[in-house]
Amino acid sequence: MNTMLDSYKTTPLDQVNVWFEAAKISDFPKDGGACIKYKNKQIAVFNFAREGKWYACQNLCPHKMEMVLSRGMIGDDKGIAKVACPMHKKTFSLETGENLNGDLASIATYPVKIEGDSVFVGFSE
Ligand code: FES
Repeated sequence: MNTMLDSYKTTPLDQVNVWFEAAKISDFPKDGGACIKYKNKQIAVFNFAREGKWYACQNLCPHKMEMVLSRGMIGDDKGIAKVACPMHKKTFSLETGENLNGDLASIATYPVKIEGDSVFVGFSE
């Protein structure tokens, strides 16, 4: 039923087979996100500059199936990086993908690495 949702699977670092060059560091706003496309997936990539960290997750919000998470506000929930969907403010951990203020399905998360001035997102296929 949720075929769009099903195409997003959390990829742990040890299951990465493809490092996809998403864009240059300068293409991402500091403490904000941008959307990239990999195959048929839209992936939200966040430059959590104040923590010196990067995160990636599906751009698809499981609440109303909107491709919006890259435009969400990022922040911190008891030390866990999170993103709030810009539509109805459901929040998700950027580390585990868990919905932090409800019982929605978790979002898929992906590893990010920086090499030189490029940002890479890890996928299993
Ligand atoms: S569409 Fe994301 S919270 Fe409603």
